[in-house]
Amino acid sequence: MINKDVEKILVSEQEILEIVKSISAQITEDYKGRDSKLLLLGILKGSVVFMGDLMKHIALPLEIDFMKVSSYGSGTKTSGNVNIVLDIHRNDLSNIDILIVEDIVDSGKTLSYLCEYLTLKGAKSVKTVTLLDKPSRREVDFVPDYTGKQIPDEFVIGYGLDYDEKYRALPYVGILKREVYSN
Ligand code: IMP
Ligand code: MG
Repeated sequence: MINKDVEKILVSEQEILEIVKSISAQITEDYKGRDSKLLLLGILKGSVVFMGDLMKHIALPLEIDFMKVSSYGSGTKTSGNVNIVLDIHRNDLSNIDILIVEDIVDSGKTLSYLCEYLTLKGAKSVKTVTLLDKPSRREVDFVPDYTGKQIPDEFVIGYGLDYDEKYRALPYVGILKREVYSN
């Protein structure tokens, strides 16, 4: 049953599972045989569902952690000023390969800022994986290392993604009906 506020399903449960398996296989291949520690770093809250699936399919020892950032926006718009609300509580990152896990890349500001921040904190390496990407919305020069699917400039919800904290638990990614947020 499709949620009444969903215009159409953009990425089905089945397609998401295929994306997760294929990205996890690539990550497993790219990170295997290293002495350093692999850390999946989820960006709260949107990444949690993707993170849960991804960590089950990567066939390597790994640890997880979370950061929370705010960009002082509301509704379907963000301001683009990234603020760290919950930081990573690890002192020595010198033997850690960080893979930042995001739900969606829009302007690119969140992930380009976090990559710079974690590199300055001394991480051995910093890469990014996102389920979704809206490349037409980019405001800074940023390309994720692993992308599940590129999508058009539509506001999407489900599989972790929200509108005003709602719809995160939907098992698919859907386009939100415009009437829900345009009044
Ligand atoms: P960026 O810094 O502009 O790339 O913003 C990325 C963040 O904006 C994501 O982590 C989401 O929280 C939010 N975002 C961007 N587009 C959407 C969308 O279509 N649905 C839900 N959240 C979105
Ligand atoms: Mg987010």
